[in-house]
Amino acid sequence: MKINPLFFRKNMMALTGLFLCLFLIVHLSANCLLLLPKETARGLYNAYSTWLRENPLIMIIAYALYLSIILHTIYALVITIRNKQAKPVKYAVNHTQENSRWASQNMGILGILVLIFIVIHLVNFWARVKLGIGEEVGYDAAGNKDIYEVTYTLFHNVYYVIFYTLLMIPLGLHLHHGLQSAFKTLGFYHKRGLILLAKVSLIYAIVVAVGFGIIPIVVYFQ
Ligand code: HEM
Repeated sequence: MKINPLFFRKNMMALTGLFLCLFLIVHLSANCLLLLPKETARGLYNAYSTWLRENPLIMIIAYALYLSIILHTIYALVITIRNKQAKPVKYAVNHTQENSRWASQNMGILGILVLIFIVIHLVNFWARVKLGIGEEVGYDAAGNKDIYEVTYTLFHNVYYVIFYTLLMIPLGLHLHHGLQSAFKTLGFYHKRGLILLAKVSLIYAIVVAVGFGIIPIVVYFQ
């Protein structure tokens, strides 16, 4: 049986996207530790971070995560280019429901902004913590790498606070549309289910965007 390439790419985007959505909830829950009083947060955040780095299962999940980010980006690019080739002339008026909402029409630009955020974020944290690139990370009293200090220092730079908080707007919009789109691509067409899905996607997007958006502000004032 021959699989339609567009069907395959769209399904891959949906599956990798859903996996990334799941990661964001886990990542946000962990980062909520940063909202605790400073020294409590330091101990718990660093202990959690050490556990993550030393757990073999988490290491496998982390590779799946990197692969998902890469595949999601590549398939988004391929689908966009193929769509442009198929419709080189822009329609003057487009009435389809799918295109009627701003986020759905701008998934490309929103995705690029999210990608820019992720690259800068990985340079700030992941490259320093996991690859040892840049300024060396110190240790806390318990002997864990002091990732809390990295976060605390970064979020005491007002430009990073603004960057992290503002970029959560395109992330939220991207997630709101993306979550609904992924379920539809995977064949979820139940009428009442779609109404529920729209509400769940909205709540999910708000929780993620507001959650990640307020952490830098709270840390800034700690
Ligand atoms: C307040 C906001 C955030 C904070 C404080 C934060 C903090 C961190 C830290 C400390 C790490 C390194 C973990 C370690 O290896 O020990 C990390 C990794 C990562 N973050 Fe964030 N993060 C935030 C928001 C986000 C957002 C919004 C995204 C995605 C849109 C994201 C995506 C990632 C990814 C993909 C990794 C690499 C994961 C891994 O290697 O296991 N983060 N983050």
